[in-house]
Amino acid sequence: MIMRAETLQPESLQLDAQGRLCHLLTLDGLPVDVMQALLERAQALADGASPHVNNNSFLASFYFEPSTRTRISFEVAANRLGWKSLLLTPSDSSFRKGESLTDTITTLAALGIDAVCIRHSDPSVATSAAKAARDSMAIINGGGGAADHPTQGLLDALTIRQLKPDWSKLRIAIIGDVRHSRVAKSDIKAFTALGAHQIRLAGPEYLLPDKAPENCELVSNLRSAIAGADVVIALRIQTERLQDSAALDVAAYRRDWCLTEHNLEVAKPECIVMHPGPMNRSVEIDDAVADGTRSRILAQVTNGVYLRMAVLEALTSHH
Ligand code: CP
Repeated sequence: MIMRAETLQPESLQLDAQGRLCHLLTLDGLPVDVMQALLERAQALADGASPHVNNNSFLASFYFEPSTRTRISFEVAANRLGWKSLLLTPSDSSFRKGESLTDTITTLAALGIDAVCIRHSDPSVATSAAKAARDSMAIINGGGGAADHPTQGLLDALTIRQLKPDWSKLRIAIIGDVRHSRVAKSDIKAFTALGAHQIRLAGPEYLLPDKAPENCELVSNLRSAIAGADVVIALRIQTERLQDSAALDVAAYRRDWCLTEHNLEVAKPECIVMHPGPMNRSVEIDDAVADGTRSRILAQVTNGVYLRMAVLEALTSHH
């Protein structure tokens, strides 16, 4: 049966008929061998492998929400592959004059752009862009609402496997605003696909999902969540996605949920600490932890470049 592109779900759009990556929209349903291949290639690049240089390729960044890490690391990755990277700012583009997303995407494809990274508060926008682009250009979801941030999930997996490669043994704690975090959702999808099955999600009740995803447990106390953990991931409160951010009691949040050296005493001695950034220091994480010996936060940033190089290579390898 031939399905119309308009009816396809993101997981059915991102692989071509040969099972090769043609868009990266979500980690939902992404085959584990595709994830593993991206992680292995990213690690090889981190270890000094030569990139597959292509001087004729173009990446466009199209961000409707702010970004430092994702946007710049994609641009650094593109430049290391010999690509030219271009910025399309929504407020300065013809989008502002009423041009539709579909017309914007087909115009970019006609201009010869090879890949567009899109970030938007609406998680369906990257999927709509992939439906418009079809096989003329790759679409990458650079963060979609509270739902998906696939390259962050993969770079977090890369950061963990560098030190702790046996996923089946890992106890992972994700602390904070899990409910509104696209990073947490993509992390959980990546980690469980790779074999993790002991993931604790902890935070105040109003910041936790209503139901624990498969292989996850909801925990209502910080020290219980990080007891015996191998990996602790702190999350930023997504104030931009809270209905009433003014009602947030920051002092109470810090008292109950801030990652401190004291709280980390109950984790495994070799436990690592991660944070996708940007951090609210002294709210969800203390300086001593963020800048301490357990911290892999800047390693995550560096790994983001290698992981995104691997993604750009994979998306264009069959063109
Ligand atoms: N982790 C992350 O997405 O950071 P930016 O918002 O800076 O891109």
